[in-house]
Amino acid sequence: MPESANHKTSVIALCGKGGVGKTSLSATIVKILSSDPDVKVLAIDADPSVGLATALGIEVTKTVDDIRNELIQRVASGASADKKQMLSMLDYEMFSALKEKQNVAFLAIGRPEKEGCYCQVNSILKDLIGSMAVNFDFVVIDGEAGIEQINRRVMERVTHLILVSDASRKGINVVQTIKEISDSAIAYEKAGLILNRLRSAEEAETLAIPPELNYLGWIPEDNTLRTFDIEGRSILEIDDSPVITAGRNCLAKMGLWPKTDQQPGV
Ligand SMILES: Nc1ncnc2c1ncn2[C@@H]1O[C@H](COP(=O)(O)OP(=O)(O)O)[C@@H](O)[C@H]1O
Ligand SMILES: [Mg+2]
Repeated sequence: MPESANHKTSVIALCGKGGVGKTSLSATIVKILSSDPDVKVLAIDADPSVGLATALGIEVTKTVDDIRNELIQRVASGASADKKQMLSMLDYEMFSALKEKQNVAFLAIGRPEKEGCYCQVNSILKDLIGSMAVNFDFVVIDGEAGIEQINRRVMERVTHLILVSDASRKGINVVQTIKEISDSAIAYEKAGLILNRLRSAEEAETLAIPPELNYLGWIPEDNTLRTFDIEGRSILEIDDSPVITAGRNCLAKMGLWPKTDQQPGV
């Protein structure tokens, strides 16, 4: 746990079109940041299909949404608990839903019951990040629908927004929209774009990336990631790979990681 009074938690959120590699990169970033055993990382899976848990080799037993549902049921059944009691119970449940694996803690948000209304889950998520984040050096959020979450101001505590795209115009258009929305909705400190699954630096050049997206670098198409995903293995177990090196360099460009000598990315 950080002891310095000046400690500030970096809250990193990954956003982008479905399938571009947000979950894989979230897990890779958790892996990189947690390689220092003194650094505490909280990984938050904001995707209902809990992909990040699998990518980190963590089994989810309870989600934030399960806790919310229990609370709603308790209220509906007329259990007499005052609001303060409820909140402290909720707080306790939240911390007990945290899964810890050495210096990595994990929390799954779960699936909202009613389609279209994420308000309660989102407001829980927002408060939760705030109260839990102070205990960690880094919070890494793997978001499903980036635009949706930014719209509803869930992400207001995010300090570093990582836009993820593949080498497609569609992917770039999505992150451009996310960036525009977040510029007006959240007071992040830094935003930057990572291009995933590229085969060469030239591929990035052909995309004519708008400068406001702050291109950080590219992650190569890598068989290790694919194989680990197919086999359901934890990305935390990957030894050094081009993906890890490229990821480190992207984080370094955001000031989140000490710079390395090798620069495969840009
Ligand atoms: N750099 C990469 N090289 C090879 N495969 C990758 C890479 N990044 C992601 N993948 C694969 O692409 C698929 C989608 O990635 P995922 O992280 O689940 O995307 P998202 O979370 O954005 O939907 C997965 O099968 C994953 O293993
Ligand atoms: Mg995902």
